[in-house]
Amino acid sequence: MSGQLEPLPGTSDIWEPEVSQWVQLERAAREVFARYGYGEVRTPVFERTEVFVRGIGDQTEVVQKEMYTFADRGGRSLTLRPEGTAGVMRALANQGLGDGVERRVFYMGPMFRGERPAAGRRRQFHQIGVEAVGRSSPLMDAECLAMLVEFLRAAGIPGHRLLLNTRGTAEDRPRVTAAMRAALEPRRDELCEDCRRRLAENVWRILDCKVPSCQPVIATAPPIPELLGEASQAFFRRVCEALDSLSVAYVREPRLVRGLDYYEHTVFEVTCEVASLGAQTAIAGGGRYRVALPGGGDAVAGVGFAAGVERLLLARGWGEQPAAALGPVEVYVAGLGPAGLMAGMRLAAVLRQAGYRVLAEVEERSLKAQMRTANRIGAKMVLIQGESELAAGAVLGKNMSDSSQELVALDAVPAWLAARVGPRAPAAGAGLPAAGSPV
Ligand code: HAM
Repeated sequence: MSGQLEPLPGTSDIWEPEVSQWVQLERAAREVFARYGYGEVRTPVFERTEVFVRGIGDQTEVVQKEMYTFADRGGRSLTLRPEGTAGVMRALANQGLGDGVERRVFYMGPMFRGERPAAGRRRQFHQIGVEAVGRSSPLMDAECLAMLVEFLRAAGIPGHRLLLNTRGTAEDRPRVTAAMRAALEPRRDELCEDCRRRLAENVWRILDCKVPSCQPVIATAPPIPELLGEASQAFFRRVCEALDSLSVAYVREPRLVRGLDYYEHTVFEVTCEVASLGAQTAIAGGGRYRVALPGGGDAVAGVGFAAGVERLLLARGWGEQPAAALGPVEVYVAGLGPAGLMAGMRLAAVLRQAGYRVLAEVEERSLKAQMRTANRIGAKMVLIQGESELAAGAVLGKNMSDSSQELVALDAVPAWLAARVGPRAPAAGAGLPAAGSPV
């Protein structure tokens, strides 16, 4: 039975207090991105399969092996988004991206990849990402990276490294491919089976192989920047100069290619070496790209990145916390007898409008049982209404920190709480007539 209640491998239920850590991370992202002029976009979680096959590239691992693809009732092929960029580009193109239109957007939400689950590798994971389209300047790439580093700092991520490289453009590709093949072909026997196939099909993919025995061979591949034409080298030099002038620290990684095919020019990855991440040290990645659209419209060029929320939390040491039974409550309203319970509900509603976090008893239970609940949820104050309190138009207010108690007139309760728990800002809309109440 219990196995059937567990979430599927590579997916999780996320509980408080961890949810609050997610919200904090999302808030840090919103604050930093807004300062750079980025606005939020929310695109569908599933799209026509073509959006990803064309956008990400049919030679990529993600498209070939990891997509959750299914047919809808009309037989149309749909896919759960494995990443954010392709869908966001479709959405921006749908709005019309003519010459001179500049858009900067950010997004956060679940992505789906059928990978083998491991520490930091999920089948449903969450990304916080950004995309900037309409400017092809190397300064745009540098600013995007500066913003990523600022976000990681605001999110409290310790000791990360920014790895930087360039893939050049489509014009450079035949020359790089030929040089790469010439260098790696003589060592074919030392490569894994997949990489031997990649030698003929897509030699770039070899550089992204994670099989340990392939690593010494990959280390001898020629550095990509040296194989590029002058224009691509100049673009990369300018990115590096801009990063230097913004004091953004980076490490050149001349064989970094990234696993998605839409990249050209700048590519980067941020790694963090903490034990909780296991082998999944990449907490964010991105670069400059040209994303092909379904239906064959002009490819959309831009620059962006995505960070993995689960990995950011693991890097901070926040993952895997025990579930809290109830949210943090300040005030517990206990009630005795049907009239006491009903009055308690009304009092709780008033106190919530005044801005307090309140839980009211809803069942006829002994005062002892109700006090046990108040203790368990960590309420600071308990307000009790039985027959005699109701008759006096008052509540018995109990301070849980020193067990002192006193009778408080009903209309004095907010002030009594403010003096003990602290004042609160009233709830938004407080003071307006409630829905359905007579005007
Ligand atoms: P990506 O490198 O595939 O790039 O993913 C970005 C980040 O998502 C990774 O660095 C990692 O933190 C997280 N991530 C990826 N797969 C998983 C997984 N299975 N489990 C947990 N976390 C994962 C992209 O997705 C590009 N769209 C980034 C981009 C935006 N490039 C340009 N703009």
